[in-house]
Amino acid sequence: MSGSAKRSITISLDGTNKSSTLPLMDGTIGPAVADIRRLYGDLGIFTYDPGYGATAACESKITYIDGDEGVLLYRGYPIEQLAEHSTFIEVAYLLMNGELPKPTELKEFEFGVLRHTMLHEQIRQFYNGFRRDAHPMAVMCGVVGALSAFYHDSLDINNPESRRISAFRLIAKMPTIAAWAHKYNIGQPFMYPRNDLGYAENFLYMFNAVPAEPFKVNPILARAMDLIMILHADHEQNASTSTVRLAGSTGANPFACIAAGIASLWGPAHGGANEAVLKMLAEIGHVRNIPEFLSEVKDKGSHTKLMGFGHRVYKNYDPRAKIIQKACHEVLGELGIKGDPLLDLALELEKIALNDKYFVDRKLYPNVDFYSGIILKAMGFPTSMFTALFAVSRTVGWISQWSEMIEDPEQRIGRPRQIYTGAAQRDYVTPGRRG
Ligand code: CMC
Repeated sequence: MSGSAKRSITISLDGTNKSSTLPLMDGTIGPAVADIRRLYGDLGIFTYDPGYGATAACESKITYIDGDEGVLLYRGYPIEQLAEHSTFIEVAYLLMNGELPKPTELKEFEFGVLRHTMLHEQIRQFYNGFRRDAHPMAVMCGVVGALSAFYHDSLDINNPESRRISAFRLIAKMPTIAAWAHKYNIGQPFMYPRNDLGYAENFLYMFNAVPAEPFKVNPILARAMDLIMILHADHEQNASTSTVRLAGSTGANPFACIAAGIASLWGPAHGGANEAVLKMLAEIGHVRNIPEFLSEVKDKGSHTKLMGFGHRVYKNYDPRAKIIQKACHEVLGELGIKGDPLLDLALELEKIALNDKYFVDRKLYPNVDFYSGIILKAMGFPTSMFTALFAVSRTVGWISQWSEMIEDPEQRIGRPRQIYTGAAQRDYVTPGRRG
């Protein structure tokens, strides 16, 4: 438990003389957290918090978000500073190890990761089992889960060295798995990784190159890819990270846990939003259609959301959205794309929504996915690859959080309770007597 837990809150149960004194836990920053573990023992009651909006499920030293102020810190470092000065591989080291690396440590870490980029040759066969038009996220769920059938030597979750090798394998192989999912979709030969290239550069190489001719990765696009990866590397206890932790709490192996995280990320309310934003922009089609679209969004019965807007934690601008919006202009400039109609539409939509009472009242601001789709499209990625790229980047966060959980002495199997509202106990009725 962090801090000395000197403060407490006392809850008394109406109509009884029972009460429970719950210690308050203080983190380094952020609100205090009531430790409710004794509540059931003291009062015989559970807490109710669907969506876990008020529940801390673990202690973590990795990522901090202040949603009201729009702050995101990785191991204490602001995302803006990391985006400007760092690289994805350095951020990966930071997230996994807690400190920025010395030059020799970084070199060693990079070498450690890069020497695991190849997939077991038999994994190639897996791809042939998918339909040609399989969504890359479907392929990733399957192939990443299947890694546990290939790397038996690093499955012992109680062995730190084994955990380290699995982490390296996952971070290193994810770009290869994602790039091959795309190559399979378009019927081109799989490109093997090149360990002389940087992490993001190698991914762009495997994604774009063909064996028939040399391919040079545009350094500006490699830097943009690296930046996108930094911005997506971790985000506290979001749905997919919580999924990884929950799966991991049972003792499941890391490959299986990350496959579970990929499945959770796929949904349009989470990582699938970047793909959904582009579909939405295409559907809106023109600036003149924005008012009609926004009326639909505001109509509760329509179930239409302004994709790329809103966040469970941020009630202010998502700091990642600001960084990616700037990068988006730079990449479009580099690619000579002037007046991209989708970007123009997105900018206008953002402007109108930010001044609309519905969004202002609900503190709905653009999130990272509002712009990531536009930048990825400009870089030549099909929409179906957007969430797969998110998964590649988030793997480092997932595996850091998973390792932290395994090392946490307070860790127990994740097992929420419920309010049961079904039928009370009753006796079985034989078929002929059912009214
Ligand atoms: N468009 C229209 N209304 C919205 C939106 C939106 N994008 N997001 C929230 N609302 C409304 C919601 O209907 C509710 O209204 P009311 O109070 O009248 O019932 C109010 O705002 C509060 O929203 P909520 O549903 O309680 O918020 P939540 O924390 O449960 O949901 C969210 C967060 C991200 C799932 C949601 O904002 C959303 O679906 N956004 C669109 C999808 C999206 O962009 N997701 C990416 C999130 S960032 C990257 C990531 O996590 O992967």
